[in-house]
Amino acid sequence: MTRPEVPAREGLELRKRYTPADLGVFTPDEARRYVSPGDGDPRTNVVLAWELLYRLEPKLYDRLASVERLHPGVVGWLPRHVDRIAEVGAGTGRLTMELIGRARRVVAVEPAMPLRRILTRKLAGAEHGTRARVRHGFFDQLPLPDDYADLVVACSAFTPTAGHGGESGLAEMERACRPGGSVVIIWPNRTDWLTARGYQYVCFPGPMSVAFGSYHEAVELTGIFYPRAAGEVRRRGLRTVPFEVLGINPPCDLAFKVLPR
Ligand SMILES: C[S@@+](CC[C@H](N)C(=O)[O-])C[C@H]1O[C@@H](n2cnc3c(N)ncnc32)[C@H](O)[C@@H]1O
Repeated sequence: MTRPEVPAREGLELRKRYTPADLGVFTPDEARRYVSPGDGDPRTNVVLAWELLYRLEPKLYDRLASVERLHPGVVGWLPRHVDRIAEVGAGTGRLTMELIGRARRVVAVEPAMPLRRILTRKLAGAEHGTRARVRHGFFDQLPLPDDYADLVVACSAFTPTAGHGGESGLAEMERACRPGGSVVIIWPNRTDWLTARGYQYVCFPGPMSVAFGSYHEAVELTGIFYPRAAGEVRRRGLRTVPFEVLGINPPCDLAFKVLPR
């Protein structure tokens, strides 16, 4: 998923899908956050390639996120009965769909318009879907008043880099969270960065796999997103692929802070 600070070979196949000519899809606000001077080539910048994926091939991204399920311990850890939840970087709703039964109001903030569209469609067909509002925004510019939510959460979206959160994004999430409420970062990529800022880390044990819809889907999606695992998937005829084979840490952890009252 979003993986800044990755080895240079990471995302090889994903990076091949896009070129600098695709950068025109970004709005000026997006380009300012995602495209650094001298580092604007998705063929070498995997973070940029992910952002292009969300905008140019949102259904492909949704197929991946739909099978990469969160650890039940992570979902179970979240509060069950609160008034308001704000989710930032909601994507196509992997977490949002778990949140709508837990609050009177859920605001799902997502910058990428094609992902907002998919999420809006999913919510329209879901029980409790009317409790959610899908809004445009960024970590560092949330469309929310101070102290808005009991829970402000991001899943596989926040990183310490400025374009994907950073200091100003974390401060903004805390601003939108009420005193006594919780800010939660699910599947964090840098726990040390968060613990240095007063966050506590929780990890749920047990093996985890990605259950693709079919063997053919496993071959196709690992070929694009986890090319180093694709050979083993083919060799072993796998439809359900352990995270160790994919070569990434599973979505089994979170970092949280309860804000002082
Ligand atoms: C890997 S996806 C995760 C989506 C969803 N939370 C999930 O778990 O499936 C990362 C998400 O972060 C969003 N994102 C990227 N930069 C962002 C920013 N600066 N502010 C808020 N969201 C951002 C992307 O548009 C994308 O939806």
